Amino acid sequence: MAERKFPSTRLRRSRSKGFLRDLVAEHKLSSDDLIQPLFVSEQKESQIDIPSMPNVYRHNLDSLYSEIESLLKADIKSVAIFPAIDSDKKNAEASHAFDQKNIVCEALQGISKRFPEIITIADVALDPYTDHGHDGLLVDGRIDNDQTLDLLSRQALILAEAGADIIAPSDMMDGRVKIIRDALEANNFVDTIILSYAAKYASSFYGPFRDAVGSAASLGKDSKKTYQMNFANMDEALHEVEMDINEGADIVMIKPGTAYLDVVHAVKSKFQVPTFVYQVSGEYSMLSLSIEKGWLDKNVMLESLVCCKRAGADAILTYAAKQISSELNS
Ligand code: PBG
Repeated sequence: MAERKFPSTRLRRSRSKGFLRDLVAEHKLSSDDLIQPLFVSEQKESQIDIPSMPNVYRHNLDSLYSEIESLLKADIKSVAIFPAIDSDKKNAEASHAFDQKNIVCEALQGISKRFPEIITIADVALDPYTDHGHDGLLVDGRIDNDQTLDLLSRQALILAEAGADIIAPSDMMDGRVKIIRDALEANNFVDTIILSYAAKYASSFYGPFRDAVGSAASLGKDSKKTYQMNFANMDEALHEVEMDINEGADIVMIKPGTAYLDVVHAVKSKFQVPTFVYQVSGEYSMLSLSIEKGWLDKNVMLESLVCCKRAGADAILTYAAKQISSELNS
C-alpha cells in the first residue's frame, strides 16, 4: 500500500463542531457594540413607515420613548437621534436648529429624564434644518466653512444642554471639532464626548436616510462633494482622522461601513483610538430588502456586522441593532 502523506496542519479540525468554532472565533459581536439610530418628528401618528427602509419608522415623542423601552429590553443601551423637521420650519439659515424647543432637544430631554442610563448621540449638522438640504451655510452658491462653524458650535451647545451624552459632528467642515470642543469646555460641558464623523464620504448609500429625514427633496440634484470625502481616497481619511483627534475628538467614525472596511482597519491600526463605523441606510436597506424577498439568508446582517468588528470597529451604528441584539441574546 502506498504511504499516505497527510499534512500535520489541518485547519478543518477546529471547524468540525459548532462549539469549537466558537472557541477559536477571533471576533465576537455583542449587544454592547451596537447603537440604534432613531428618527423623530413632530407628527400626530405614533409611527410612520419609511418606504426605502424596511422595518424602520419615524416616531413621535411617545412612540420614541416606547421604542427605547423595547430597545432596553433587547439590551441596546445607546441611541442616535435624528430629527425630521417640518418643511415650514426649514430656512436658508437653519434657524430652527438653535431653538431649544425643537424636536430633537425635546427628545433628548425626555430621554434623559425617563432613561437616565441610556447613552444619547446627537448629530451636529445643519441639513435637517436648511431648505437647501446642505450641512452648512450657503453663501453665494458655496458652503461657507467658517461661517458654518459658528452655527455648529451653537448647535452643539444646545444639544449638550438638552442632555446629549455624545455630540456627533457629521458636517465635514474643516476645524469643527476644535470649535465645538472649545465651546463645550468654555460652558462647563467637560464630560461631553465628541464622536467625530471623521472620515465621511460623499456616498450614494445615504439615499434612504435622506428620504427618512426629508432632506432628499431639499437637496435635489445638488451633491455634498465639496465637503464630504471622495470615495476614491484613503490617505485623506487618515489625515481627517488625525486632525480630528488633535482637535479633541474622543471617538472617530468611518461612514459608510461595508464598502469602507479597509478605511476602518487602516484608522484603527494607525491611531488605536475608539473607532466606530456607521452601517448606513443604503447598506441596511439593500440587505433588509433582499432578506425580505428571500433572496438572501437573514444571517447576512449578522455577517456584515461581525465583518465590521473584524475590520477593527469598536462599535457600530446600525438600523438592525435591536433585531440583531435580540438574536444574539436569544
Ligand atoms: C446628516 C447625516 C447623514 C447621515 C447621517 N447624518 C446624511 C448626509 O450626510 O446626507 C447618513 C446616515 C445614513 O445614511 O444612514 N449630515
